[in-house]
Amino acid sequence: MPPDLRSLSSKTVIVTGGANGIGAQAIRTFHENGANIVIADLPATRSAAEDLISSLSDSSRALYVPTDISNWDNMKLLYQQSIDRFGGVDIVIANAGAMESKEFYDFERDENGELKEPVEAHRIVDINLKGAMNNGSRGSIVLIASTSGYFGGTSIVSYIASKHGIIGLLRSSQRVANHLGVRVNAVAPFFTPTHITGSYSQKWMERGLPANSVEDVALAIVRTSIDSEMKGHCCLVAGKKTREIEDARARLVPQWIGADMAQLMTEGGRLFDELGGYPLPKPRI
Ligand SMILES: NC(=O)c1ccc[n+]([C@@H]2O[C@H](COP(=O)([O-])OP(=O)(O)OC[C@H]3O[C@@H](n4cnc5c(N)ncnc54)[C@H](O)[C@@H]3O)[C@@H](O)[C@H]2O)c1
Repeated sequence: MPPDLRSLSSKTVIVTGGANGIGAQAIRTFHENGANIVIADLPATRSAAEDLISSLSDSSRALYVPTDISNWDNMKLLYQQSIDRFGGVDIVIANAGAMESKEFYDFERDENGELKEPVEAHRIVDINLKGAMNNGSRGSIVLIASTSGYFGGTSIVSYIASKHGIIGLLRSSQRVANHLGVRVNAVAPFFTPTHITGSYSQKWMERGLPANSVEDVALAIVRTSIDSEMKGHCCLVAGKKTREIEDARARLVPQWIGADMAQLMTEGGRLFDELGGYPLPKPRI
């Protein structure tokens, strides 16, 4: 049974990257179902965010906060303004993301012939991973991963590395999230026509390959955010179908790494459970 979307009435939802693409559709769906919405997107998206808000049926339940999610001060302001306006934050959708505009291994040289720091690669990791970690929410969190968080076939180095990081964040946050009563889940879209896929969307469609619409992905995001049964789950959305994949992965570990190693991992995990978590090393200095 899909969760009842009416439970969104009077909940407050922040969607990072909510001015465009999948995030903008998530904003519409949350709002249509009674939520207060906060669009947290870059200052350059102001007019898209304002157009989106004026297209909503009730703009008193909508707020735009210009935000760079990789900047902690911006994030503090985002939470402050959301709480001032709506009294609290119940759901955060960590959706903002970007893809590099040049290849990672294309290192440039400076005027002295020295290799230049790969700043574009760092920028992508800062947005996609650090930005998703810049999150002090205590409600329901949905991380927007990607099939690139599971597979590396397209060779987009920084994007894939950062999205694998999102899956790591999903898995590693469960212990403390359960302790705090926070639900952390993910949605991993496959091809969905938006700005990110704009340079090959046409070719994808001409090939006749199935594609998600932003509505399909937004609905998976909204359902995941309110489904109290979901903790540490990830919904793959591909060709309009939605499938939970973290449980399936956990069940397949013995086939993947062998029953003996799976057993060893389980026993090691049990020890950490008994110790109340992984005992952290002291700082060296
Ligand atoms: N479209 C797809 O096929 C696809 C597939 C897998 C995953 N995703 C993921 O879905 C999410 C949404 O992407 P989309 O396809 O809607 O792309 P999009 O480019 O249409 O939207 C991304 C939004 O993020 C915002 N953003 C970028 N950097 C930001 C920053 N530093 N601070 C705040 N906002 C920032 C952009 O301004 C934009 O509004 C991303 O995390 C993306 O990686 C998309």
